[in-house]
Parts: sequence; C-alpha cells; structure tokens
Amino acid sequence: MSQTVRFDPVRRLKGTLTPPADKSISHRAALLGAMASEPVRVRNFLDAADTNSTLAAMQQLGALVDNHSDHLVIRGTGLREAAPALGTIDVGNAGTLMRLLPGWLAAQEGRSYTLDGDESIRRRPVDRIAEPLRLMGVEIGATEERYPPFTVVGGRLRGIDYTLPVASAQVKSCILLAALTANGETIVREPEPSRDHTERMLLSAGVTVTRVEDGVRVMNQDELVLGEEIVVPADLSSAAFVMAAGILVPKSRLVLCGVNTNWTRTGFVRIAQRMGAIIVGDLEEHGAPLTVGEPTSDLDVTAGPLIGTTVEASEVPLAIDELPLVALLGCFAEGETIVRGAAELKVKESDRIQTVVDGLNGLGGRLEATDDGFVVTGTGGLRGGTIHSHGDHRLAMLGAIAGLASREGVQVVGMDAADVSYPGFAADMASLLPGT
Ligand code: S3P
Repeated sequence: MSQTVRFDPVRRLKGTLTPPADKSISHRAALLGAMASEPVRVRNFLDAADTNSTLAAMQQLGALVDNHSDHLVIRGTGLREAAPALGTIDVGNAGTLMRLLPGWLAAQEGRSYTLDGDESIRRRPVDRIAEPLRLMGVEIGATEERYPPFTVVGGRLRGIDYTLPVASAQVKSCILLAALTANGETIVREPEPSRDHTERMLLSAGVTVTRVEDGVRVMNQDELVLGEEIVVPADLSSAAFVMAAGILVPKSRLVLCGVNTNWTRTGFVRIAQRMGAIIVGDLEEHGAPLTVGEPTSDLDVTAGPLIGTTVEASEVPLAIDELPLVALLGCFAEGETIVRGAAELKVKESDRIQTVVDGLNGLGGRLEATDDGFVVTGTGGLRGGTIHSHGDHRLAMLGAIAGLASREGVQVVGMDAADVSYPGFAADMASLLPGT
C-alpha cells in the first residue's frame, strides 16, 4: 500500500502539541525490559511500526508484555535466559532493533538466532556490529558478510576495548549490552559522542557505566534490574519536523511539550538557532555529565528569516536524523548551507544523501550531493511538486513540511511510511492550522 497525500501551502501555524514518544528510548525500554530479572512498567511507550517490531521480537524471545490503557508492563527473561526463537526474528524496518538485539543474543550460549527484515533493512550493513561481537566471542554469519538475513550464535563472552570507526549509538549500544555478560570490563570509544540513552538506562539499573575521555566503560553484571518505571519523553526527532514547519511558515508560533532535550540529541536545535530560528527551551548543556534519567522541556518556536550555515563532522551524530531538515531549512535560507562528514546518511532507511538531494531538487531546490553530505544554495523558498518517500519515514515527513511552506504545495508519494515513527503526523499538523 502506498498512499499519496497532498500538503498545500498554509498561511501560518499556531498551537501546542506533544510529539510522539521517543523511538530510540522506547526500543531500549522494551529490550532492556526483556533482559531484566524484575518486571518494569513503561509509560508513554511509542505505539508505532518500528517499536511494535521490538515488542513482538521480545515476546518471541520469551518476555511477557501486558498492555494497560496508559502503560505496558514488561516481564523479562533475565540476561542469559532468552527463549530459543521459533523461526526468524522479523525486525521489520527497525535498524535500531537489528543492531541492538544481537548484543543480547550474544549472551545466549550455544543458541542460534536468525534476524531479517523488510526490503530497506536488507540494504543496511550489519558488519559494523559483527566485527566487535566476533572479538567478544560471538559467531555471526551475514549475507555477503554484510547484510541481513544474518545469524547470531551466542557464546561465552570476553570484554573488549574497541574503537568504532564511525560514531554510532546503535553499534555502541550493541557492544554495551553484550558487555553485561562478558568477563571483566568493556570500553567502547567513538570519534565523536553519539546519543547516550543506553548508558543512562543502564546507569538507572545500577550498572557501573562511566564516561572515559573518548568513550564509555561498562562492567559486567549478574543480572539486570531496572527501576520500577521508565517514562518515555517526547521524541526530539519527531518534534524537529513540527519545529521546521514553525520556523518556515511565516508568522507561525508553536509550542512543543515534554520534548527530550538530552544534549546528545539536540544538535538540530542548535543548528537551526545558528541559522536564525527562534527556539526557546531548556536544553541540557552540551557535554553534560552522564546522569540517570532524561531531561525534557517545552520548546517554543517562532518563524523568522534564516541564513546558511556549515555543519561539521563533530555535530553530525547529534543531529543525524534531522540532517534532511537542515537541507530543507537551507533551501529557505540566504546563502549556502553545507553538511560535511555525514556519509552515514547513505545507509539509513534510504540513501538520505541521494533521496534528500533529488527529492528537494524536484521541488525547485538547488542542492548538490557530495561524498559525505550536501551543499544547498538557498533561494528563499521552494516551488513545490511531487516527492517520493522511498519507504523512508523521515523523507515522507520532509516532503509534507516542504509542502506546507512551499509556494504551490507538495504531493508526497508513500506518505504511509511516516507510521514507522509518527503515526499521527498528518493529524498533528492539521491541528496547527488556524481555525481548527
Ligand atoms: C539510533 C541511532 C542512530 C539513528 C537511528 C537511531 C539509536 O543511528 O540514526 O535513527 O536509537 O541508537 P546510528 O547509531 O547508526 O547512527
């Protein structure tokens, strides 16, 4: 099913909304809940395609999930007691599930698990987790050594000191989860800091997790006992689409409630502010020490004129999923907007260098793809036209926001892809139209 939806230009947007629950934190709550020895209550778990894939996988591995009207209770199996899966584990479209889950499966000594997913997942590399997991003592067999479907055979694990070639929270988290059952300590080093939700959740479970100069160190654990309750905040990455609409549609004023402002996620806010956007909120300080829990704030967004900016490699992991929106803001800005050091975009749900550049050029933008990012020449606006989501949720929402701010409107082919992270997206945007 591929749904085509038209987004016509609007004169202004106004109002308050709470964006959906954080996808990254929801995946982690389900996974760590399944690994834990005591039940955990999860409030505001994201009800979307990606995170439902994770819940289904956890049930397949023996965890019990009770659905209540305003929360879930997850009863885990314990670190080493995942059930043998009957058949392949289907990760759907969820790269985070595909990369984090093997960190737990690694501890299931002698048991073999096969993971597979949709068409987009089959193009996403798993060698990045296979290499460190093999060093820890896990057997992994992947298609062409690199892609799903792939098989993980758990083993007796040893701690490692491993340097990631590219900053990645998914790969870091996979190693940290495996480290819980490895002997001794494990250190994961990264060229730049990436999102730290796994570290915070482990810390709240009493695991010894400390930042070292260029990474994080974790000690092994007999069992995992999470606090009684995890409350998932609103997702900055979903909020960013609404924020972009508030920045681009003239005379807009929006308030987004309860958004996660963990500094490892707020790169987009800082980039947009540098471009001239007015976003007021309580952002966690850049480089803040590792603490239990996630900070949240309301964010107040006002439309205003923008100027181009350059995003360097060090900022990329802190805004990785919002870089398509930086390209969109760049189209409306004065001067050039450059993103560098973002080759990772090529292996997201679509090749986001190509799909963003082609997609926005098709709407009248002036963008050029580079090896590790793009260059946007701002022309003050976008004409409009048709854009394809390529099954990528963030591209579908990018097209929708482009339409609201365009001169002639945008047709998004494959709008249903948005359900992966933001099922109520179109309705939320409609609620911000004046007169509704
Ligand atoms: C995620 C990390 C990022 C991000 C993805 C979610 C996570 O991927 O793009 O949408 O939940 O850890 P990488 O860590 O591979 O950059």
